[in-house]
Amino acid sequence: MAAGVLGIGKFVPERILTNFDLEKMMDTSDEWIRTRTGIEERRIADDQTDTSDMAYFASERAIKNAGLTPKDIDLILVATVTPDQPFPSVACMIQDRLGARGSAAMDISAACAGFMYGMVTAKQFIDSNAYKHVLVVGVEKLSKITNWDDRSTAVLFGDGAAAAVMGPVSEGNGILSFELGADGSGGKNLYQDKEIIKMNGREVFKFAVRQMGESAASVVEKAGLTKEDIDYLIPHQANIRIMEASRERLDIPEEKMIKTIQKYGNTSSSSIPLALADSVENGVIKDGDLIVMVGFGGGLTWGAVTLRWGGK
Ligand code: ACO
Repeated sequence: MAAGVLGIGKFVPERILTNFDLEKMMDTSDEWIRTRTGIEERRIADDQTDTSDMAYFASERAIKNAGLTPKDIDLILVATVTPDQPFPSVACMIQDRLGARGSAAMDISAACAGFMYGMVTAKQFIDSNAYKHVLVVGVEKLSKITNWDDRSTAVLFGDGAAAAVMGPVSEGNGILSFELGADGSGGKNLYQDKEIIKMNGREVFKFAVRQMGESAASVVEKAGLTKEDIDYLIPHQANIRIMEASRERLDIPEEKMIKTIQKYGNTSSSSIPLALADSVENGVIKDGDLIVMVGFGGGLTWGAVTLRWGGK
């Protein structure tokens, strides 16, 4: 058996904040944001909806889609840099709300690479037969740490959640290869200071272009695959120019890259699973498809996975 995805679910807040709305709030333009980042709009959670609420809604859907109940979940991993509070973890909060008492539960802090870290951690527990079903969640309420007075970061981020139930799938499916890494010396380029996000955009951009390309190419090679085997690339939805760089490195056509940045912006830990959930819901990704996922984030961190969809 291998470790794969049994069910997936997402939640995005109803409120849409467009680039035109931002034009009224700060000195920016739809044109600048679209051409520099690819973002057209993003979702913003209301004051009553915190990170754990979004994580809960996405998880409920993922468990249902997996044909399981919360009692079947052995471990909950929540990737987030915007928990409701430092502790208890979001994982413990949703464990209680879902009714999965007794399962192990913890949060993972690896910023935008968090969901990759979560999936790979889940795989280890499943492969070793320690646990059968692991709920992996990527969730962020970045709007609560966004500095709305800083136009260079405020236009980038959005809120949202997506969750996947991972478990055993038939051989040849699920995660075929992975890579995780970090370079703490780059932490100064992207961090939270007191309540807000601080970023050296140019440095992060340079790092991301290089690392996303290298990691994506590395996992394809590790799995013994070639570019012809790739059905879809899901890069972390940070900036369309960074995403394009990873696509060009893999040398695959434009239509093979999944793109949700235009409607959700950068949702950090949630960005890759949100794009995955969207594509599964829309019928784009089907059983047997080979997906390459690659992310980078504050830390600095990175992670990539090749995943054959289906095989339950
Ligand atoms: N509207 C209009 N002008 C702006 C805006 C804005 N929103 N933001 C910046 N500018 C201006 C700058 O002030 C600058 O003006 P100047 O030339 O007069 O000084 C000009 O636009 C160019 O600014 P740059 O920073 O050079 O623009 P760049 O092309 O590098 O794009 C960006 C900036 C989009 C932030 C880019 O660097 C980037 O995408 N970096 C990576 C960001 C990223 O992926 N971060 C991940 C964070 S996720 C996480 O871990 C939470």
